[in-house]
Amino acid sequence: MSQDALSNLLQENRRFAPPAELAAAANITEDAYTRASEDRLAFWAEQAERLTWAKPWTEVLDWTNPPFAKWFVGGEINVAYNCVDRHVEAGRGDKVALHWEGEPGDTRAITYADLKREVCKAANALGELGVVKGDRVAIYMPMIPETAIAMLACARIGATHSVVFGGFSVDALRTRIEDADAKLVITADGGYRRGAPSALKPTVDQAVTKSVENVLVVRRTGQEVAWTDRDVWWHDLVDRQSEEHVPEAHDAEHPLFILYTSGTTGKPKGILHTTGGYLTQTAFTHHAVFDLKPETDVYWCTADVGWVTGHSYIVYGPLANGATSVMYEGTPDTPHRGRWWEIVQKYGVTILYTAPTAIRTFMKWGDDIPAQFDLSSLRVLGSVGEPINPEAYVWYRERIGGGRTPVVDTWWQTETGAIMISPLPGITHGKPGAAMRPLPGISADVVNDEAESVPNGSGGFLVLREPWPSMLRTVWGDDERFVQTYWSRWPGLYFAGDGAKKDDDGDLWLLGRVDDVMLVSGHNISTTEVESALVSHPKVAEAAVVGASDPVTGQAIAAFVIPRGDAGDVDVEELRGHVAQHLGPIAKPRQILLVPELPKTRSGKIVRRILQDIAEGRPTGDATTLADPAVMDHIKQALGL
Ligand code: WT7
Repeated sequence: MSQDALSNLLQENRRFAPPAELAAAANITEDAYTRASEDRLAFWAEQAERLTWAKPWTEVLDWTNPPFAKWFVGGEINVAYNCVDRHVEAGRGDKVALHWEGEPGDTRAITYADLKREVCKAANALGELGVVKGDRVAIYMPMIPETAIAMLACARIGATHSVVFGGFSVDALRTRIEDADAKLVITADGGYRRGAPSALKPTVDQAVTKSVENVLVVRRTGQEVAWTDRDVWWHDLVDRQSEEHVPEAHDAEHPLFILYTSGTTGKPKGILHTTGGYLTQTAFTHHAVFDLKPETDVYWCTADVGWVTGHSYIVYGPLANGATSVMYEGTPDTPHRGRWWEIVQKYGVTILYTAPTAIRTFMKWGDDIPAQFDLSSLRVLGSVGEPINPEAYVWYRERIGGGRTPVVDTWWQTETGAIMISPLPGITHGKPGAAMRPLPGISADVVNDEAESVPNGSGGFLVLREPWPSMLRTVWGDDERFVQTYWSRWPGLYFAGDGAKKDDDGDLWLLGRVDDVMLVSGHNISTTEVESALVSHPKVAEAAVVGASDPVTGQAIAAFVIPRGDAGDVDVEELRGHVAQHLGPIAKPRQILLVPELPKTRSGKIVRRILQDIAEGRPTGDATTLADPAVMDHIKQALGL
């Protein structure tokens, strides 16, 4: 994206006020913004007090060596103690921490007292395997309670975990084990996906490198596994451990975890998060953004623990707050397309946090499916991962939330560790598609090429002006890359890589990665806005837009559209006109291609690079990062390529 600011094309006038009842009892009121803007560090110090510290900090923030931040300097704290023990000590041991639902329908209810026993046993087991504070442990697991238990056990003893998404291949796992020099890998024989056991252990067997001394294996599916001397069954080792384990206090800046993000170029970056600031901001944001009432809410984040959303909003934030959560192992269409709504009904889920890609899938599957279930327990809905199209937002609010529930569109990244920009459900008048305002204590802005704040009504680059408690501390083993990637475009500003605009009220709209912005006849146009315009047409289920080189306009807009229902009755000319009517003639796609599916990563993000190859008439490039590489064949077949 260049000098010319992103065009502010989309007009969206729908507004949703917070429900009166929710507003009256909201966890956060407007004064939080005032207090945080008057004294940001005092505000964060106040939030850190939600946690139980073993030793108080002496300074809230040390920013003398930017961009290397130290938060809560001198403070000592144990993350696992805060997520587990203290709730038991406060008499809430019998409260359910996790309602776990396996894909085949088996269930486990794990109370905080159960969790304490299991985490202590696992911590003792790690000790027996010779894992000590500072060691790295790779975790390659299905969505089962032992995954959270393993993470907490690492946190308890001060071993730094690196969770690798269970859908990743041998190479991805090996690179991550190698980069972090992991001493132990925790895995399972397999997990259930799409109605069948899906093996994990064979991938680990091929990926282990010299640094790995042991592989600790949970038996989940009972499938056959190869076995070597370094392998240890979880049930053999963990079950016989003592249920007592004294949590050691760790420095506020002790490395809690590494999580790799792939990015578009180069090898994956090991994003490093530390202890005190990370837990402070995940706990605060989970309390604030979801208005969590731990006594009555049943909270469900549908992410996989292999992504940062799972770290911050399945494990650390909710448990630090003493929440009751649902954790689901499998896929949304197993054994039927109403599985999620069945789970919401069964557990009385009150807060649901999911991704736009899932919402659009449910839209495609049809309104009649959620309509068969009682979803009246829901009171707050959240969205994360990519911009939510206004139409998807409204569908989510109406069809899942019964028109009652606020939708919080939460912008953040693996690097930010916790939510940064979001409406607050008791305060904000929601606008479909907008992430609205930086949270109290966060200073996000939209700037132009010269790093000047853009006026309302304009677009540009999303930046963060001040450090925040859960920020990444570095790229594991590569401080230089940390500085180069995030802090070098403009001195003193963190550049997130996203485009955004401020509307006339100053509220923020995310416009996608700046690499995806199109330059059409000298205008920067956001792929997100064109996609949202397409999705607002009743015959469109999903859309992906790319800029394809064009001799006349520089780039021209090519759109790939999944029709709702039968493709036969979709009129491409009508869709082009629809976009022009919504966004103006400049945004009218040069071509619209009807396709049955879209290429997506395993975390649900559209891989535009491959679509650009098609639009520009090249053979399509590397499809190995796709969740389902066969999708490309289906697309090519539909296009007659
Ligand atoms: C990128 C970060 C944050 C956890 C999941 C993704 C995009 C994320 C939103 C949102 C618009 C969003 C951004 C961001 N993104 N949430 N609410 N609206 N875009 O973590 O894999 O590190 O990806 O996801 O482009 O930079 P991640």
